[in-house]
Amino acid sequence: MTSRTMVAGNWKMNTTPTQGKALAEDIIAAAGTPPTKVVFGVPAIQLMSIKEITAQHEGYFVAAQNMHHKDNGAYTGELSAAMLADAGVDYVILGHSERREYFGENDSLVNIKINKALNAGLLPIYCCGEKLDIREAGNHEMIVGKQIEQALFSLDPAQMEKVVIAYEPVWAIGTGVTASPEQAQEMHSFIRQMVANQFGDTIANSTTILYGGSVKPDNAEELFGMEDVDGGLVGGASLSVENFVPIIKAR
Ligand code: PGA
Repeated sequence: MTSRTMVAGNWKMNTTPTQGKALAEDIIAAAGTPPTKVVFGVPAIQLMSIKEITAQHEGYFVAAQNMHHKDNGAYTGELSAAMLADAGVDYVILGHSERREYFGENDSLVNIKINKALNAGLLPIYCCGEKLDIREAGNHEMIVGKQIEQALFSLDPAQMEKVVIAYEPVWAIGTGVTASPEQAQEMHSFIRQMVANQFGDTIANSTTILYGGSVKPDNAEELFGMEDVDGGLVGGASLSVENFVPIIKAR
């Protein structure tokens, strides 16, 4: 299908602005011009300083980890799509399982956020994935299918072309347990088929579908080698040069 197109790091609530700046600079210095797009998903307070760095290097981009679904108003502590876009942010991670788990987000809310992001000119990285009990009961395709349908099917094709999907089985996030390449491929191909059914083959074949969940230097190559795995969304291993650079370079 598509070839590998992106490696995105999700720093979560890690790194101070000083540490983050050093991390981005060191990764870029070590990786050079990357073979694929590299996205740094950084804490909100670092978006503008990391953007200043990525703007000077081909192939590097910055992502917010979340945004609010309203345009503006009395929502203390929140950031809007327009604020992110005006700050030069390229991508926004939406629907991450930690947002779902700790902040009560669901796919109807995420659907609104995706629309707002696209309207503001941001590129959404939409996260989906099942919990362990769902996988064990064999219902993972049904659940991920529902997530995709609720979050993405109301988009028009021109919007869908701009969406990156990240399949992140919750049981593999931060656990050190990775989906096997076969499990990842099976779900990615299912997701691509769903996108094809709704939006047509051309869009489905050009949609970037990332795998996330304990991607490490020693498993990245095998995962990214699967036909429908177009790259990774990487948490823990994106926080060091030593781990992230080999993942960027994995072929
Ligand atoms: P992990 O996190 O790589 O630490 O498992 C992935 C993610 O949550 O995006």
